[in-house]
Amino acid sequence: MTPSPRPLLNRRLAGFGTTIFAEMSALATATGSVNLGQGFPDTDGPEEVREAAVRALRDGRGNQYPPGPGVPELRTAIAEHQRRRYALGYDPDTEVLVTAGATEAIAAALLALVEPGDEVIALEPYYDSYAACIAMAGGTRVPVTLRPSDGRFRLDLDELRAAVTDRTRLLLLNTPHNPTGTVLTREELSAVAALAVERDLLVITDEVYEHLVFEGEHLPLAGFPGMRERTVTVSSAGKTFSFTGWKVGWVTSSPDLVNAVRTAKQFLTYVSSGPFQYAVAAALRLPDEYFTGFTADLRAKRDLLASGLAEAGFEVFRPAGTYFVTTDIRPLGATDGVAFCRELPARCGVVAIPNEVFYDAKEAGTSFVRFAFCKRTEVLHDAISRLKRLRS
Ligand SMILES: Cc1ncc(COP(=O)(O)O)c(C=O)c1O
Repeated sequence: MTPSPRPLLNRRLAGFGTTIFAEMSALATATGSVNLGQGFPDTDGPEEVREAAVRALRDGRGNQYPPGPGVPELRTAIAEHQRRRYALGYDPDTEVLVTAGATEAIAAALLALVEPGDEVIALEPYYDSYAACIAMAGGTRVPVTLRPSDGRFRLDLDELRAAVTDRTRLLLLNTPHNPTGTVLTREELSAVAALAVERDLLVITDEVYEHLVFEGEHLPLAGFPGMRERTVTVSSAGKTFSFTGWKVGWVTSSPDLVNAVRTAKQFLTYVSSGPFQYAVAAALRLPDEYFTGFTADLRAKRDLLASGLAEAGFEVFRPAGTYFVTTDIRPLGATDGVAFCRELPARCGVVAIPNEVFYDAKEAGTSFVRFAFCKRTEVLHDAISRLKRLRS
């Protein structure tokens, strides 16, 4: 008997096959459905930012390898943004690192800070790259489940505290939170900070939706007592400026943590997005009206889709932030979100994502389905009228 061949994919990545996004986007194309699956806008960001990228390309700025930590103009603009918005001071030379999107920042931080066997606590449901990157770093994922209560997905602080062991190296936090739309409150963040200090934990905080908060305010964890020196704050230009294809992200942290993350980052991409870095520097310096206008536009889209989904018969968890509305399909007589999403294009011509794929504890997410509202108003109206067919 010939021995079965060794699998090509290594053990750490076994189980991380094709993402649900690829399957659902293919289904959207094949059926001509409205795609509210993947979170990217269907219009580009500000014209002056696009023009800044064209100018940089034409002027030969960034067409060759930019400096490893990022171009100084962008690092300075990031530091100014953190000071202006949150009164957090970072030295652009030692405390800011530009990355290939938030995705690379998260990967590099995990690869730099986690030893095999270390435990990493992540809020579940979680953005899909977290699990794969923790696995690539050899860490053990410890999920803490956000559970619905009073119309919002909540962090159970006792559960978080109970998840910390002597092997816990870091917390991987995301606020505003994809896919639930939860924005952690000052009280919740204070408790997380106190726990991190008490148990001497590092924290990676993914704040890519920092400018998409519709209720309450975004509070960076790094601003809480004792957190600046133990927090790697991650953000990116993709969502804030509607240029998700440019892949310009960044880290702000203490010099030691930035150094550690840079060590891993330099062997992943080394550098990326040269001319776009100059354009994002210009974007971060846009006047306040841009940011308030952007939030107001997405708030109106949130309201439109949330009401439409409720009228179509879904239970709606109205998101306080992000691009996404999570719904419960049980009022429509369905229980299995994966089956529901696979059938939805044929039933009414809309594509959504089953939240179950973002959980380890699958049973906690089975009946939840996520819809993206970062689309043109007419597209959302079209999707809503299609979804209303589910009731007839
Ligand atoms: C929570 C979260 N983090 C990170 C990212 C990826 O950001 P980037 O495109 O800057 O790599 C996304 C994109 O959907 C996200 O939802």
